Amino acid sequence: MNEEPEVLIPFKKHVFVCNGTSCTANGSAAVKERFVKELRARGQMRKQKIEGDFMCTDCSSVGFCEIGPAVLVYPDGVWYAGVRPEDVPTIIDEHLNGGHPVERLARNRVPAPELMDDAQIDKPDTNKS
Ligand code: FES
Repeated sequence: MNEEPEVLIPFKKHVFVCNGTSCTANGSAAVKERFVKELRARGQMRKQKIEGDFMCTDCSSVGFCEIGPAVLVYPDGVWYAGVRPEDVPTIIDEHLNGGHPVERLARNRVPAPELMDDAQIDKPDTNKS
């Protein structure tokens, strides 16, 4: 029997903070700590069975090593670079809650497929023989 995983507590967005070697050397732990602190203070941090709008976890290197710390927000697929702890309230206010990415920090867009239009999605070429 193939059962779908069950999501008990849905959330709106997932923030990933890179904890790779270069980002760590450039202060990514303080960036993640600020996200957790700010989201908890606002009652918006989802963790295990605690309800909240946003989840924040570590991720490993995404290739922004020269310009880290890297922060990714999904399902929007906005990749931020050079994020400092003092940028975190702005990302929360403008992007997570306001729906508008912080353009001065955004360096790449890789949205989840369901948020992409048809022209952005690589589809198998069915015309090949
Ligand atoms: S170490 Fe963070 S992007 Fe490479």
